[in-house]
Amino acid sequence: MTARIIDGKALATRLRAGVAERAAALRAAGREPALAVILVGSDPASQVYVRNKIAACEQAGIRSLHFEFDSGLREAELLARIHALNHDDAVHGILVQLPLPAHIDAQRVIEAISPRKDVDGFHVASAGALMVGQPGFRPCTPLGCVRMLEDIGLADLRGRHAVVVGRSNIVGKPMALMLLGMNATVTIAHSGTPDLADTCRRADVLVAAVGRPRMIRGDMIKPGAAVIDVGINRLDDGKLCGDVDFAGASEVADWITPVPGGVGPMTIAMLLSNTVQACEQA
Ligand code: GUN
Repeated sequence: MTARIIDGKALATRLRAGVAERAAALRAAGREPALAVILVGSDPASQVYVRNKIAACEQAGIRSLHFEFDSGLREAELLARIHALNHDDAVHGILVQLPLPAHIDAQRVIEAISPRKDVDGFHVASAGALMVGQPGFRPCTPLGCVRMLEDIGLADLRGRHAVVVGRSNIVGKPMALMLLGMNATVTIAHSGTPDLADTCRRADVLVAAVGRPRMIRGDMIKPGAAVIDVGINRLDDGKLCGDVDFAGASEVADWITPVPGGVGPMTIAMLLSNTVQACEQA
């Protein structure tokens, strides 16, 4: 079998067009959606991500405010900036790019963001809302994965087993909760799970978010599975690859996301969608 590609880039383009229409309607009503993006330090990957997010905002008709600080920024200054943005009615979303320098308590910074402006969905109130099935902002990467599954006809996963490899607060854990919400039976595994290969082979839907290049091999995939690869790893030759061995997995899976061009563009589309939603709800 040669797996069908889940074209995240194409789906993200379609979804962004819808977001742009909603943004235009808000602007026509005199309310311009706006996202504040905060970057601390000069991590090259973070700089690229932030640049992409800001460019995507512009394209969608969302105003972006960009705040860049050097890595020596004091936590108190960052908290003061967030406080000011919380109280600025012209700002609807606040995003602090992670990771933050080690001397800054990232969770404290996230908790300082008003849940009404938490378009990343990382605030404990957003995480709690997801946990108990209440409305709230959902983290963009797992939300983008859900939208891709819906797009290939896997909106209801009743009777299916989903395995998430990775347990981060921003991808693995919220992903597992969202899959539960889609009626899947869910296993959360990680790089230290004994018999990880056996666990993965039970997955009708496999989400890889471990951050290890090509760790999920073709022989770990159940024939006919849908494989969502969240990993973005840079190889020594400068090329990007996912957590899944794409060539090997493509021979076994029914559906697979490419890297790049899979989950990454969807994450940005979901950020734009959350930002417009924040403005609509303001
Ligand atoms: N760092 C890696 N992924 C993300 C994300 O989705 N949002 C933020 N703010 N930082 C990140």
